[in-house]
Amino acid sequence: MGQYARHVFVCTSGKTCTTQDSATTFQVLKDRVRDAALGPHVRVNHSGCLGQCGHGPMVVVYPEDVWYDGVDAAAAERIFAEHLRDGTPVESLRYVAPPGDNKLPKT
Ligand code: FES
Repeated sequence: MGQYARHVFVCTSGKTCTTQDSATTFQVLKDRVRDAALGPHVRVNHSGCLGQCGHGPMVVVYPEDVWYDGVDAAAAERIFAEHLRDGTPVESLRYVAPPGDNKLPKT
C-alpha cells in the first residue's frame, strides 16, 4: 500500500471546473476529512484538468479509480460519508464515460 488508503483529486485549476465552483467541492472534502481525523488515511489534493471539462466539478478517488462528475457541495458530502469514510463508492454519482478525454465543446 502507498502512503494513503485513498487519494482524492479535485480539479481546481482547469478552465471549466473552476467556473463550476470546484473550490467549494475541494473545501468540503478537505474539511470533512480533517474533521473526521482521517488525514493519515485519506489525502485530498487539488488537481489540474482531468480531461473531462464541462462535466465538473470533477473528482477522482484512488485506488478504486472511481470518477465523479458534477460534484457540488451536497454531492461532496455524500462522497465523503459514503466513500471516503465508510468505504462504499456512491454509485448514483459515479461518472461513466469512454476512456480518455471527454471534454464538452465550449459554449
Ligand atoms: S477543467 Fe476540470 S476536467 Fe478539465
